Amino acid sequence: MAKTSFSCSACGASFSKWSGRCEGCGEWNTISEDQGLSSGPAKKSLGVKRGRTIPLTDLSARETPPPRTCCGVGELDRVLGGGLVQASAILVGGDPGIGKSTLLLQAAARFAQAGVKTVYVSGEEASAQVRMRAQRLGLADAPVQLAAETNLRDILTTLEAEKPQLAIIDSIQTMWADHVDSAPGSVSQVRAAAHELTTFAKRHGISVIMVGHVTKEGQIAGPRVVEHMVDTVLYFEGERGHQFRILRAVKNRFGPADEIGVFEMTGGGLSEVINPSALFLSERGEPSPGSVVFAGIEGTRPVLVEMQALIAPSPHSQPRRAVVGWDSSRLAMILAVLEARCGIPFAGLDVYLNVAGGMKISEPAADLAVAAALLSAREDVALPADTVIFGEISLSGALRPAPQTENRLKEAQKLGFTAAIAPGGSKPISVTGLKLRKASDLAGFVGEFFGAG
Ligand code: TYD
Ligand code: MG
Repeated sequence: MAKTSFSCSACGASFSKWSGRCEGCGEWNTISEDQGLSSGPAKKSLGVKRGRTIPLTDLSARETPPPRTCCGVGELDRVLGGGLVQASAILVGGDPGIGKSTLLLQAAARFAQAGVKTVYVSGEEASAQVRMRAQRLGLADAPVQLAAETNLRDILTTLEAEKPQLAIIDSIQTMWADHVDSAPGSVSQVRAAAHELTTFAKRHGISVIMVGHVTKEGQIAGPRVVEHMVDTVLYFEGERGHQFRILRAVKNRFGPADEIGVFEMTGGGLSEVINPSALFLSERGEPSPGSVVFAGIEGTRPVLVEMQALIAPSPHSQPRRAVVGWDSSRLAMILAVLEARCGIPFAGLDVYLNVAGGMKISEPAADLAVAAALLSAREDVALPADTVIFGEISLSGALRPAPQTENRLKEAQKLGFTAAIAPGGSKPISVTGLKLRKASDLAGFVGEFFGAG
């Protein structure tokens, strides 16, 4: 017997029964019966009417790599995986006001100047506003074709007639597909618009870059609902009131994920930061307790950042644990390991951890740097200013070597550091001008550098 299934149009959760409110996301009136092939496991009817035979090919069939175009903004080209791939669909997500329109207008201008026929469609601003912004950015002469439009059907017809190589759609939440019966910005509209644009890109060989606002509330759909459709997902991150912006590839069918590009927001738009380590460390003052330099890897590139910790007696029965730029459950783990394996308690103490410069770190290799920052803050002892730290901490208190140790050390040496503390790997690694002090477990590290444990 064919089973009916129901799914939520907001979060995609599926249910065997209809209900007024989705248990998954809590939205009302979003559950409807699934139609067609997607309705649950193996419908009987699929076997009755035969489909056509699909041609199968060998894995070894020769493929030429897709053509790519670089726009000349190195940080952007690298995050794209080495330039823009023809006929690809790219999503650029980020908080409102972070600088997505600025980035893409600049990218549009650079691609156009590099000979790529580019159309920029704004659904948020009038053409005059975009032109004024272009003037302010000194890009008024770039051969970019502009339109202010939200009707997707009209946009696609125009693109088909104009045949650009690159179309920028700012933003996907403002687009309106007239065959879908809901308001722009709703999950079904955003999905439909992204689907239309992605298939259009493939069919006509046009690269499409879509802007997607990240939204906190469920009122309008965020970029998450379209991430699986597009080839590349880039997030533009940073903190408002901070000039650094980071463009991070979280998915890329044509290049490495986790690659980052670093930009600085200036009065004249975004400028690329060629040497992010130097910039992230430029605000570092005198060596102070709680400050540690972590030698990290972001994508294919080493990046040095400062980890800052502050520890203070807590007036609360439940001490505070506040983290900016790192994972809070990972912090809880490090605190637990320090307590269980090294006998250093943090009970009754508020713990604050901050990654300087607005960077977000997700590498486990930052563990040891975090532990060092916490201990340095707790013991009120500053670590030598010329030392970088990295390494993963396991629950047993053992330290695991980090990947690309040599690249991290080289970057540190290049920026004038003379020593590094890291777990020793099986391979001996040496970098001229840099002293590598190996640590094998957390207790040993604590004993050596903080005289405790
Ligand atoms: P915008 O690109 O409009 O953000 P988004 O499209 O992600 O919503 O950027 C808006 C912010 O950027 C705005 O607060 C002003 C700032 N900005 C500059 O600092 N310098 C500039 O040259 C430009 C164009 C914007
Ligand atoms: Mg914008």
